[in-house]
Parts: sequence; C-alpha cells; structure tokens
Amino acid sequence: MSNLAHIHSAGGAAPTQAISSWPDTPDLYARLAELVGQPMRPIRRDAMPKILRWFDDRCPGSRRLAEQAKTVIPGGIQHNLAFNHPFPLAITQAEGAHVTDVDGNRYIDFLQAGGPTLLGSNHPVVKEKVHALIDSCGPVTGLLHEYEVKLAELVCKHMPGVDMLRLLGSGTEAVMGAVRLARTYTKKKWIIKIGGAYHGWSDQLVYGMRLPNTGRMEATGIPRGATGHTQECLPNDLDVLRRKLQINRLRGGTAAVLLEPLGPESGTRPVHKDYNQQVRKLCDEFGTLLIFDEVVTGFRVGMGGAQAYFGVTPDITVLGKCLTGGYPMAGAIGGKKDVMMSLVGGIGTTSRRAFVGGTLSANPLSCVAGYYALQEAERSNAAVLAGRAGDRLRRGLEEIIRRRRLPYVTYNMGSIVHLQTSGVLLLDTSSLWKLLKIKDEARQRKHMMEEMGAAYTAHGLITLAGSRVYTSLADTDDVIDDALNRFDDVFALV
Ligand SMILES: Cc1ncc(COP(=O)(O)O)c(C=O)c1O
Repeated sequence: MSNLAHIHSAGGAAPTQAISSWPDTPDLYARLAELVGQPMRPIRRDAMPKILRWFDDRCPGSRRLAEQAKTVIPGGIQHNLAFNHPFPLAITQAEGAHVTDVDGNRYIDFLQAGGPTLLGSNHPVVKEKVHALIDSCGPVTGLLHEYEVKLAELVCKHMPGVDMLRLLGSGTEAVMGAVRLARTYTKKKWIIKIGGAYHGWSDQLVYGMRLPNTGRMEATGIPRGATGHTQECLPNDLDVLRRKLQINRLRGGTAAVLLEPLGPESGTRPVHKDYNQQVRKLCDEFGTLLIFDEVVTGFRVGMGGAQAYFGVTPDITVLGKCLTGGYPMAGAIGGKKDVMMSLVGGIGTTSRRAFVGGTLSANPLSCVAGYYALQEAERSNAAVLAGRAGDRLRRGLEEIIRRRRLPYVTYNMGSIVHLQTSGVLLLDTSSLWKLLKIKDEARQRKHMMEEMGAAYTAHGLITLAGSRVYTSLADTDDVIDDALNRFDDVFALV
C-alpha cells in the first residue's frame, strides 16, 4: 500500500501533524545513556576494508573530483553536509527520493540537502514555475515582485506566530537578525540559548554548539566580546533557565530565549513534551521574547511548524530550508506585528529600527520557488506523508536493532529520524570535569559515526552525518522497505 493510500484509508479529515506521537523522553534518555555507557559497537574491523574498497572500485569519478576540489576549496568541501568518509561524492542527478553520482551509482537520499527538500528532490511543479519566472524576469531585479507578497501571505496564513515576514538569505542570517530584533524591541541585552543547539555560524551563536556546556570551544576567530552576552542552558533544565533570567534581570535583562523547539540539533536531545510551554511561561514572567528557530521544523513538522504542534506561540520565528523548497536563498524572520515593526525603516528613516537586509534577499526566484513548494506541500499534505515514511523507517530500524541485539537507539519526530549508533552527541557534558573526561572518547565515537556513514553510503544510503535521516514526500513504502533491507545489510557487519 502506498503512503498516500495509507493516509486516505484512515478515513475522516486528513491529519495535519507530521509527528504521530512524541517520543517517551524519560525512556529515551535512559536508552541513550545506556548506549554511551557501554563500549562502542562499530563495523567489524575485518569488514571495514571491504567497505572502503567499494569506494575505490565504484567511485573513481568522485575521487578524482574530490582530489581536484582539495586544491581550490579548503578541505575539499564547501560545507559539512557534503562530508563523506572516505571522500565526498560528486552528484550529477537528483530526483524524488534518489540521487545519482558521477560514476552512475544510485542512492536513496536521506540527506535531502540537509532538510529543505520535503517534496523530494527537484519537484516538477516547482521546477516548472521557476523556469517560467526565469524566462519572464530573470532571478533578481532588486524591485518588488508579487511572489514576495504571495510567499509572505502563505507563511502568515499557516504559522500561528507569524503576522509579518522579513525574507533574508539563510538561516544563519535570519537568526542573527532575530537576535538583533529582540534586543531592539526589548532594549535588553542577554540571549539565552539551549546548549548543543545549532543556530548557524554568526559570531554570537558559535557558542555551546553540538554538545551542551561547551561555550566558546568552537569560537575560533571570534572575539570574546562577540559572545559576551550569549549564555547557554542545559536542555530541559527549567530551574537553571529561571536562575539565569533572574540574574540577568539585575544586569541589563534577557532579550530572548532562543531554542530549537524539538530540542538541540533537530531533537538529538529531545525536549520533554511540555518544555516549550514552560519556557513560554518563563519568558512571559521575565518580559523576555521567545524565539523559535524553525529552520528545520518549519513546514517539515507541519505547515504550522513546531509551534502549531506544541500549541506554543513564539514572539519571533526563524525560518529557512523548506521555506524555499530547496532553492536558494532560504531565510526569514517572522513574528507578531508589534515586534516586527521594529524592522521597519528605510533610507532616511529616523525611527529606532534593527538594520537587516541583503542585496539578493527576497529575490523573485527564491520567492516563486518557496510559494509553489509550500503550496504543493499543503496540497499534498507532504509533511504528514513524509512523517509516516519516517514512522515506517523507524519501526523497521527498531525491529532490525532488536533482532540483531544491538545497543543502537532510533526514534523519530515525523520525517526527522534519529539513528544513534555511536551516541557521540549524547555524551554527558553536564560538568567541566565530565567534559574534559570525554574528549578522547568523543573523537573515537565521532570516527565510528563516520565509518557507519561510509557503510550506509556503500550500501546505497545517503544519511546526514551517519546519524540522521530526513524522509520526504517521495519516500513511498517501497523506498523505505528497500532502505530497511540495506540498513539490515549494514548492521550484519557489526
Ligand atoms: C536549527 C538551525 N538553525 C539555523 C541553521 C542555519 O541555517 P543556514 O545553514 O541556512 O544558515 C540551521 C542549519 O542547519 C539549523 O539547523
């Protein structure tokens, strides 16, 4: 039975939420603690050379291009997503659920460009509209275009916390702008983020990334002053958050609490179901704005994002990725009208406003792509169908893990499926002592994750960093079942 038939056979109104049930977080944390509390279970040492040989035999074209890339691109790749052990793959074709590399190898694509292509790659409806736009006015003029308005109207219609929208170039830019907007509106200074979350690479937010409590560990090239008013708080710890808000009140106040609503790193450390609601209450008590970074969750968790799922309305919403259906440039700040008006201005204005913008922001190409991608997502109920594909994949993975008696942990929030085999991002960093203790182990567990990633790739599966899988509308039951057979073959090598 296809995914679509499955949904329709359920009868009644179509569901609108991609997350069919929230993970049992206490149980999940217990299982994750067990995973990182025991020795690693990597691919067997005798099986690894065969996997690496697969790349030698089957990917000579990718290898050549990767070598060439190293001479002109630092590290040979332009961003982390393209990292692949032992070398990056050069892709020539992408359609629906699959990508094909320069050597003709075809893979099931669970990277989905890092999240934006909820409809699957290169969706024909969006492609056609983009072509028409290019024919009529080219990608950019710098002047107003009707698709800017249409896209903004569509987002405002669906996102409970968005009355107005400011389009920008990327998620990073949008978070940067959202923080500036919060400071402008509240006239307060501090920003509290949740440890381990990723909010892009702006100076003030390369702080407490990946692992909680790591502060400025990755802030190379960033002066202390730039992160001087950024703080982090352990996920799910409301007492510490309250304490920070209390202390900050005495020294300039907290402009915003900034969080990923599923939990840091797209739910790698999931929040308890009522966490966002509790943070909302704290923000109201302290006159602090709540910013939801919905760069990943926006439209993927449902047309109303995680805010509709949790029934919690943030003051500011940050969007990216799915917003333009995989076309550049994906970034936006949305929010309540009174907050958003602090972005209004223009040349010659005398009003107090936060300055944001960019030459190519809100170009007609991005806007037409976003408008039709979101319309298509709404029409096809893409988030829900992709979510059911995620459920099917997770259930299948659970069965394989159980049958093979592996310590691995899998769970999903709709189309965001986590597959923790090494658990590197779950290591306990709740104190400085623990952080120092795990440094070596983190390196080893990270390498194991890279090897798992290589093994998946050699079995025709592209994942995000060997530990996350994004499903899409294109992932029919047949695609998922094919993928499960491949995962089973990989786990046979452990
Ligand atoms: C939650 C979150 N916020 C912000 C960003 C940054 O977005 P961009 O890569 O478009 O700058 C990302 C990127 O992965 C993200 O996952």
